[in-house]
Amino acid sequence: MLGPGGNYAHVFELDGKAYKLFLAGPEILPRQTRDGRKRVFKSQVEAYQLLFRDPWLQNHSATFYGVCTIEDVIGGDGNSLRDDYLLDCCYALELLDLGEIDPITGFYMNEAKLVWLKHGHLTSYYENHVKDAEARFKMLGIATMDSSVLFYRDPETFKFIDFEIENYY
Ligand SMILES: Nc1ncnc2c1ncn2[C@@H]1O[C@H](COP(=O)(O)OP(=O)(O)O)[C@@H](O)[C@H]1O
Ligand SMILES: [Mg+2]
Repeated sequence: MLGPGGNYAHVFELDGKAYKLFLAGPEILPRQTRDGRKRVFKSQVEAYQLLFRDPWLQNHSATFYGVCTIEDVIGGDGNSLRDDYLLDCCYALELLDLGEIDPITGFYMNEAKLVWLKHGHLTSYYENHVKDAEARFKMLGIATMDSSVLFYRDPETFKFIDFEIENYY
């Protein structure tokens, strides 16, 4: 698994790609429900599909390889974990190099949350490139509230992940 595992999905590395597979539970009202997670999945897929309208922005987002249905998820002890997941709510992305985990902060070296770049200890990286990308997402109606930026230090190679259509129904 890549990252610590969130409330909506787990991201797995498989055959050189990253697969974001959404969780079936637990039910936490109002939004973190089975239906809520399905909606977030759809909204993220639609957001990736909208990027063709802005080739520059598409180039600064993880490449989207489409949706897929997972047959099974096998745990470390060999048991099936399929009931934990919405097996038809999965999309594949280009696998980005997260780098090592920084022993001091516990975060991946190459990844920063957008909010840290805007308001945190990394604001010097926000000006220009990250800010431009944020404005372009906004123009497409894509929300970047929870986004991470990979390779955030580099205006040429930085890439966004984790965004969705704003106010999706
Ligand atoms: N394409 C990718 N390449 C490498 N790592 C990724 C990729 N997508 C996600 N990750 C890792 O998985 C974590 C969780 O993914 P994310 O899409 O942010 O899920 P969530 O919606 O649960 O926050 C990210 O913070 C990152 O560390
Ligand atoms: Mg995230």
